[in-house]
Amino acid sequence: MRKEFEEIKKDSIKKIEKAKDREELEKSKVFYLGRKGKLTLLLKSLKDLAVEGKKEWGPKLNQFKKELGEIIKEKENNFSLVLKDKRRDLTMPGKKIKRGSLHPLTIVEEKILEIFKSMNFSVVLGPEVESEFYNFDALNIPEYHPAREMWDTFWLKDKDKEDRKLLMRTHTSPVQIRFMEQNKPPFQIVVPGRVFRYEATDASHETNFYQVEGLMVGKDISLANLKFVIEEFLNKFFGKKLDFRFRPSYFPFVEPGIEVDIKLPGKDKWLEVMGAGMVHPKVLKMGGISLTEGWQGFAFGMGVERLTMLKYNIPDIRLFYSGDLRFIKQF
Ligand code: PHE
Repeated sequence: MRKEFEEIKKDSIKKIEKAKDREELEKSKVFYLGRKGKLTLLLKSLKDLAVEGKKEWGPKLNQFKKELGEIIKEKENNFSLVLKDKRRDLTMPGKKIKRGSLHPLTIVEEKILEIFKSMNFSVVLGPEVESEFYNFDALNIPEYHPAREMWDTFWLKDKDKEDRKLLMRTHTSPVQIRFMEQNKPPFQIVVPGRVFRYEATDASHETNFYQVEGLMVGKDISLANLKFVIEEFLNKFFGKKLDFRFRPSYFPFVEPGIEVDIKLPGKDKWLEVMGAGMVHPKVLKMGGISLTEGWQGFAFGMGVERLTMLKYNIPDIRLFYSGDLRFIKQF
């Protein structure tokens, strides 16, 4: 009896401590404590002993059985949380979780807004489906005006409640009117958003892209303020002094109108990144702003893709919408 007991005592503890997973542990448990387990059988054999023997070994064996049970329990807890489901082994190395990341255009849009917010501009949004009125007429682009051809338009079959023609907005400028209708100057806002053009695509054109519109109206807002805000923005955005130029241009909703070009680093080429100008008096009037009170302001609209392409040296606008993870993951 003594020999057998000592042996079981030594081996069982060793075996249980060495168990690598639940399965092994379970096996050892059965091996010693199961119905035909070694310790169980030894306990059963007590009945063949004389009274003296029973007195000596009964308590010892039972005490050990309890201890062994506790050791096993603890070990089971260590393998923890694994449940009846034996196919799951929590001791196995985990799988790496694939994390998403922000799209480069989202990163850049956020950066643009951050810079304008630091200059006290508020962020405002507008609808992507617009009426002809807000996208064109109210911006001083009447129906048969040749300037409409500056924006190739996706027209919708449906009309709005007031029977006005609907379209996918070709620029974020209609939000200028929407905001002026609802708010009294002075104010300064930026409007990020998606715009749509019915155009053939190439390395620098897409049928949909993003713009950030700006509008600042006050009593003595001048072209000098516009220039300062744009310069301040570009320097902060690119984090270094870049060569840029303000060039006279035409948009029906500004007068005078300008375009801002950036010189491609190391090249003798300029890239147009935004249109801007002093808000046309007709547009202020359409927005319900009184001219006799002396309000005036500037507006600008920049292309987010173009700025992103310049910042990160991206050669083709179509990459942004390609869904190619090799491209997207670089940001
Ligand atoms: N809306 C113009 C465009 O999409 C850009 C612009 C905005 C120009 C504001 C002047 C003032 O081309």
